[in-house]
Amino acid sequence: MEQTKKRIFSGIQPSGDLSLGNYIGAIKNWVNLQDDYECLYCIVDMHAITVRQTPADLRRRTLEVLMQYLAAGVDPEKSCVFIQSHASTHAELSWVLSCNTQMGELSRMTQFKEKSKKHEDNINAGLFTYPILMAADILAYQADLVPVGHDQLQHVELARDIANRFNHFYGDTLTVPEAYIPKVGKRIMSLQTPEMKMSKSDPNPNGFVRLLDDPDTIMRKFKRAVTDSDNVIKASPEKPGVTNLLSIYSAVTNKTMEESEREFDGKGYGDFKLAVGEAVVSALKPLQTEFDRLSKDKAYVEAVYKKGAEMANYLSNRTLRKVYKKIGFIAK
Ligand code: TRP
Repeated sequence: MEQTKKRIFSGIQPSGDLSLGNYIGAIKNWVNLQDDYECLYCIVDMHAITVRQTPADLRRRTLEVLMQYLAAGVDPEKSCVFIQSHASTHAELSWVLSCNTQMGELSRMTQFKEKSKKHEDNINAGLFTYPILMAADILAYQADLVPVGHDQLQHVELARDIANRFNHFYGDTLTVPEAYIPKVGKRIMSLQTPEMKMSKSDPNPNGFVRLLDDPDTIMRKFKRAVTDSDNVIKASPEKPGVTNLLSIYSAVTNKTMEESEREFDGKGYGDFKLAVGEAVVSALKPLQTEFDRLSKDKAYVEAVYKKGAEMANYLSNRTLRKVYKKIGFIAK
């Protein structure tokens, strides 16, 4: 990888099965960015353990997430695909950045406040310092752009603050990253509570569609999707359920919202939900077929993450060495 194109870093936690929200909001865009940017796509297993995980599930999910990246079109010949814990530089840089982050900055993080309410019995220090590890992920690669959902903007902002502070004290060392909110790929909301984002950790399984759900399950979830009572298929803030279905339809068929609205003009909700379900089933079909193929090719999958780890270690060690030198550590 020669640094001529701008660099992109993003990651997803292997803490649940990937949802349609992850696909439309993140992975589908990652695929499109691969030609114009130098991309690193990570499976952030170290972030996942801030919440208690069953080891066997974590192991399985990490590989499943990797295979879903590949099945969706992330190309390991173009992009660096790797597992976070395979590059020890993230933890090492994280320590240095911890010493350049204030307690007050971390305690303002909305996600920390939410997660500590949700996991009252396990408010561990890692949950608190989570955004520092995320800053390390990004800064270790001198990433220019970080594609994230709205819920992660505050963390990217903190990564910027940390980079600026480091550069201020030690001289220009770290690229100050910018959040990248893709134009296409609206926020995908829960099918049951369309005021909330679709989440792979939603306790209500009807709220989200898994990328690996079979066609019947997908159709059932769309048939049960919450709408409203006025039977008009139009996007509007007062119609979160219908708007969400229109966004999903537009995203998977690559149509604009206006085109989709026109297509369903005068139709009933029943037909509309079926059409959205069918569009999702057929959009996910090639991904699912490729996932099945990859599941039977362990050697290939292993080769991908090993090659990714090598590249990730090479790139991030360059940054880490610079950082260590700047702060006054003796070179090995
Ligand atoms: N915190 C992100 C999330 O939960 C995942 C993540 C970890 C990430 N490190 C990152 C995203 C670096 C972008 C860049 O969605």
